[in-house]
Amino acid sequence: MTHAVLAALGLTDSESGTYLGNGEWSPTRDAGVLEPINPTTGEVLGRVYASSQGDYETIVERARAAFKVWRTTPAPKRGEAIRLCAEALRRHKDALGSLVALEMGKSKPEGDGEVQEMIDIGEFAVGLSRQLYGLTMHSERPGHRMYEQWHPLGLVGIISAFNFPVAVWSWNSFIAAVCGDISIWKPSPKTPLSAIASMKICNEALKAGGFPDIFFLFNDAGTELAQRFVDDRRIPLISFTGSTRVGRAVGERVARRMGRSLLELGGNNAIIVDATADLKLAIPAIVFGAVGTAGQRCTTTRRLFVHESIHDEVLAKLVAAYKQVEQKIGDPTDPKNLMGPLNSRDAVQAYLDAIEKAKAAGGKVETGGAALADRPGNFVLPTIVTGLSNDAEVVQTETFAPILYVMKFRELQDAIDMQNDVPQGLSSAIFTQNLKAAEAFLSAAGSDCGIANVNIGTSGAEIGGAFGGEKETGGGRESGSDAWKAYMRRQTNTINYSDALPLAQGIKFEL
Ligand code: UN1
Repeated sequence: MTHAVLAALGLTDSESGTYLGNGEWSPTRDAGVLEPINPTTGEVLGRVYASSQGDYETIVERARAAFKVWRTTPAPKRGEAIRLCAEALRRHKDALGSLVALEMGKSKPEGDGEVQEMIDIGEFAVGLSRQLYGLTMHSERPGHRMYEQWHPLGLVGIISAFNFPVAVWSWNSFIAAVCGDISIWKPSPKTPLSAIASMKICNEALKAGGFPDIFFLFNDAGTELAQRFVDDRRIPLISFTGSTRVGRAVGERVARRMGRSLLELGGNNAIIVDATADLKLAIPAIVFGAVGTAGQRCTTTRRLFVHESIHDEVLAKLVAAYKQVEQKIGDPTDPKNLMGPLNSRDAVQAYLDAIEKAKAAGGKVETGGAALADRPGNFVLPTIVTGLSNDAEVVQTETFAPILYVMKFRELQDAIDMQNDVPQGLSSAIFTQNLKAAEAFLSAAGSDCGIANVNIGTSGAEIGGAFGGEKETGGGRESGSDAWKAYMRRQTNTINYSDALPLAQGIKFEL
């Protein structure tokens, strides 16, 4: 029977995973089936028919034809298309938020929050559609004008992860759309229903507004189509969100064909709490950062450095807070729960393995440390481990689960050094009331991450800033600020309106 949350969005439990354009969903039924699992019950939520090689080819060719029209559509008109998408998402926020909670397993408020991120980036993109500014420069030659303009790039390939099954698509596709690009989406095989629902909502809004197809979707039963996608020279940009291991392979393959990649890979985010920190702010920020989305955000707080003078007090407060969270673990679609299940059985195993490794390395489990055996689904307890050093292998590794490693420090510089001393470089934060400490943390000698916060946590970034990180996080920037530039090509133009032909650098070349 179709789950009520699916039915509310007009989805059945048997859907085509391929949007071919022209209002057509592919009839392919023999290219494999995806069976997303409800992580709360372990039951199959629905069947999604994967795309064939032929479907893929149709999509890319139709996307290329669509680009020829879209690239010359005025940018503010492209913005109007995205305004309609954002409006439609606003109408469907409750239902889509519930589907994200159901299929991914994050709490209902976080599912709704993810849809809100889609609406927000949509509205940001509308404003952006009247900007997309280039610079003008002063030419060194008389009677010459120089400027730069930003042109649409072409097809944008988006490969998204299960943990933000819809927002990451919109960060990419909405900005790409106002930039004049056509996007093709391959969602995570764990969350295809949320992707299909998002496509339906946006495509209906575009159609009702008289706009052409600008978004396409395919689902891959294995990895063959995804590999073809990454290697496809017709797609100048591949935006990939996922693990560092897969992202490295994607980056290498795209580089081989001289394409562009935008990589949003793993994080190993830390919070520093110094002796002056306001614990009324720090404790809830740490708990939300470490436990929110059951530790499955790339911005999740995984390491905590506490000044030795307040270490025991902070630890006691955290353990007490975790005990409260334990009372609110359950069905994520029930808004009173704070924490849902992990998305997959594999994730539960990775969580258990990390705890065993932590113990073997001398770590002490202060709270949590077990899967919940009293119920079906992938529920685990949020966990705090002390007694490990920052260079322990398990601390250096991103485990996509709610495990927080708490460590002590005496000198701020040592805390900053430890926070930087991991392969990843996504998000970081300090809680302090000391101006010097805050500024040192934000300085060139401070945090080496793409995101560095003071008196707020590591996760829950707003869409207005550029989102992404350094080192093994992949270097990409998405969402706000000038991240749009990744979706366009820059052209420098020099125009001579004089009667002479002076060469740059004063070169003489006279016949
Ligand atoms: C991710 O986990 O892939 O900052 C993205 C945050 C969210 C986005 C996370 N706005 O936590």
